[in-house]
Parts: sequence; structure tokens; C-alpha cells
Amino acid sequence: MSSSDLYDLGDRPPLGEVPGRMHAFLVRQDRFGEPAKAWQREVIPVPELGPQDVLVYVMATGINYNNVWAALGYPIDVIADRQKKGEPEDFHAGGSDCSGIVWAVGDEVTNVRVGDEVVVHSGWWAPDDPWVLSGRDPMLAPSTRIWGYQTNYGSYCQFARAQSHQCQPKPPHLSWEQAGCYLLCASTAYRMLMGWSPNVVEAGDPVLVWGAAGGLGSMALEIVSALEGRAVAVVSDDAKRRFCLDHGAVGVIDRRNFDHFGRMPDTEGPDYRDFIKGARAFGKAIWEVLGERASPTIVFEHPGESTLPTSGFVCATGGMIVICAGTTGYNVTLDLRYHWMMQKRFQGSHLSNDEQAAAVNRLIIEKKVDPCLSATYSFDEIGEAHQLMRENRHPSGNMACLVNATTPGQGASA
Ligand SMILES: NC(=O)c1ccc[n+]([C@@H]2O[C@H](COP(=O)([O-])OP(=O)(O)OC[C@H]3O[C@@H](n4cnc5c(N)ncnc54)[C@H](OP(=O)(O)O)[C@@H]3O)[C@@H](O)[C@H]2O)c1
Repeated sequence: MSSSDLYDLGDRPPLGEVPGRMHAFLVRQDRFGEPAKAWQREVIPVPELGPQDVLVYVMATGINYNNVWAALGYPIDVIADRQKKGEPEDFHAGGSDCSGIVWAVGDEVTNVRVGDEVVVHSGWWAPDDPWVLSGRDPMLAPSTRIWGYQTNYGSYCQFARAQSHQCQPKPPHLSWEQAGCYLLCASTAYRMLMGWSPNVVEAGDPVLVWGAAGGLGSMALEIVSALEGRAVAVVSDDAKRRFCLDHGAVGVIDRRNFDHFGRMPDTEGPDYRDFIKGARAFGKAIWEVLGERASPTIVFEHPGESTLPTSGFVCATGGMIVICAGTTGYNVTLDLRYHWMMQKRFQGSHLSNDEQAAAVNRLIIEKKVDPCLSATYSFDEIGEAHQLMRENRHPSGNMACLVNATTPGQGASA
């Protein structure tokens, strides 16, 4: 049932008409904990727009690991963090990926119009940040935040508030849920693989991809393959092997065949020999996949603590270990002797700027990169989808939840 103040999901107001309230999935501080319980559906006011903002009528949302962290309230309490900066809301209406229709625009918006079908990338920065205004990479600006994690009113809202520069055209050949599932991971993976010149993927380059069947990893496989590199996938499950081969990997390594992972032991201690033996065996497994004694010119990292010593060891001379997370822990160890003697680079990377999001979106529009939609859930399953992710039980690729698109398969026009 609809009214001018609140519409049911999928029940569209006239284009451009903004109701007072909306459905949204929220976390509140008194239910921080397991995502299945922390995320709950509520009705909240539709937010006001700033002059450079857009309101997106969300058709489908992607599910990302950052909102597992938001549910846990760890490593930061995003609600308290925003309140310290003066924002009044005592809830987190998250979601960092979506497809939808531009429903309203701020006074200064020129790049999109009401009615445009868009996907939204998750790099957010203050429009008046002097660093941004100077024309330098906004992802390095002090004001940069992750949309729908560090900002409120993300894609788990019926109407999401984003900055207009975050919008990219929706690939016409994709359904709403295919289009809503990929941009955060794809743009992050693109910056990791192509943003840190001269360590970028070139034809024939071997690239080691940890967690290759995950959201980030699957996008890395697709991008490396589109750029004619050779992606070596690492997984921990036989069922993921076929997925990786189907999405661009030249071969797959099962990390369960090795037991040297974890923090690197003291280089002078008795356990170091076992570590180095395991790391060498892992390097040999890479050679076997590649069919030659070649080392990865890029190691695509995100597990962090558990895998970094191995990543540092197997990376090629002059190569780069590029990392965007520490899912297994933050206290990392690295054998510096290999690092300096072989002149390797250890590069942090985070989300993407507009150009990088546009570049990877073009690869999707050109059908060179598949969004790797794994499974589509309903709006009311947003908490469950995060729970699957927290327990590493989620299906390979990127998950989506329907928001205003009430039936899967809608939205593709080409
Ligand atoms: N900074 C950024 O811009 C950014 C952007 C996107 C995501 N992230 C972060 O990146 C991480 C991964 O995100 P995602 O979306 O790819 O998550 P995901 O879909 O859950 O994939 C993570 C993968 O990591 C692998 N993994 C789990 N435990 C591991 C271990 N002990 N050793 C090696 N691999 C392990 C798993 O694969 P196997 O078990 O098959 O090996 C899993 O598929 C999260 O922490 C997320 O918050 C950061």
C-alpha cells in the first residue's frame, strides 16, 4: 500500500517526487554483533540533499564486507565516529554498492539528470576539501570516506544519498542485481591492479590473487584476464576451483595444502626453517600453474597477517604486493631481506577515484569483465547475506539484494 509519505518497495512514486520516509536496513549501537541480528529493517526519514548530491531510487544493492564490520561495531563504531564529527543520526543505514534511478539532484549537479539509470561507486569526499579542489587524487584527501560505511544513507535504503560524481552509467546489458553487485569490489581491484604505476598489469604478467573466489578476488581475476595478464588464483575449497577457471584464472592453488601461514616466525628461531620451506613450496605451486619459473609481478593481497609473509617471499624482483585489507589480522610480518634486496614494493590501496571507477565500468559495459553475480537475495535477507560473508560461507563472486526491483532479472535492455 502506498501513500505520498511512504511507498512500499517497488511501488514507485512519480519520477522526481520524493516521499518523506523510506524503508531501510540499519544497524544501531545496542545491537552491534552478529550481522544477522545487527541489521534490521526500519522506516526512517528520506535525507536532505546537498548542492552536489543525488538521491538514487535503489533497485538493487551489492553486499560488501565493510558492512560486516559495521554490524560488529569493530574495528570502529561508525555511528559514534560520525556523531563525533557532528552528525546527529544514532543509526547506520549502510550499503556501498547499488544500481538505481536518479530521483532528485542538488542545485549544482550537472553530470546526471533525474531518470538516469546509474551504478554508484563508493569513493566519497568533501566537495570543498582543498586537496580535492587542487585536482590531486581525491582518494588521498583528508576528507575521503567510504560511502555507505563511513557515511549514512547508503544503498540499503529505498532512496540512497550519494555525491553526483559517484554515479556511472548502468551497463545496459545487466539486470538490476547484476549491475548493483560489483562496483565497490571492481573499482577497488582496478585501482590495485592499474593505479600504482609502473607496477600495473601488462600482457603476460603473472598476478597472484588471494581469496580469488571472493568479491574482490573474482573482480581481480576478471580484470587481469581482460588485460591479458595471467591470474593465479588461491582458494580453500574444491568447489571454488571451477569458478576461478571460469572467471579468468590460468590455474588454482588450494591453500589448504600448506601449513606455514600466519605471522612469520623469528628469522633466528627454530620455526623459521618450516616457514621458509612452506613458502618455497607455495612458490613452486605458482610455477607449476604458470608452467615456468616465473614469479608474480603483482601480488593481490587482502587477507593480510596470515598471508603477507608468503606474499612478500613469492613476489617477483621489482614487483608489488598491493593490499587493501587485513581480514585475518593487522600485525603483519615481512622478511625485509627479500624486500630490499629484490627491491619489491609494498603498496596500500583503498577504493578508487572517479576515473578508475569509470575505467572498470567501461570494461563491464564492453562485456570484457563479468560482474560475477553469485546469488540474489531479497531486501529482508540483507542481514543473512552479511552473516554468510562473515562466516566465509557465501557463494563465490558478488552477492546482491533486491531493493525496489522486486523480481530478479529485470532491468536489462541490451
Ligand atoms: N579497502 C578497500 O577499498 C576494500 C574494498 C573491498 C573490500 N575490502 C576488504 O577486503 C576484504 C575481502 O573482501 P571481499 O569482498 O573479497 O570478501 P570475501 O568475498 O569474503 O572474500 C574474502 C576471501 O578471503 C579468503 N580468505 C579467508 N580467510 C583467509 C585466510 N586465512 N587466508 C587466505 N585467504 C583467506 C576467502 O577465500 P578462500 O577461503 O577460498 O581462500 C574469501 O573468499 C575484506 O576485509 C573487505 O573489507 C577492502
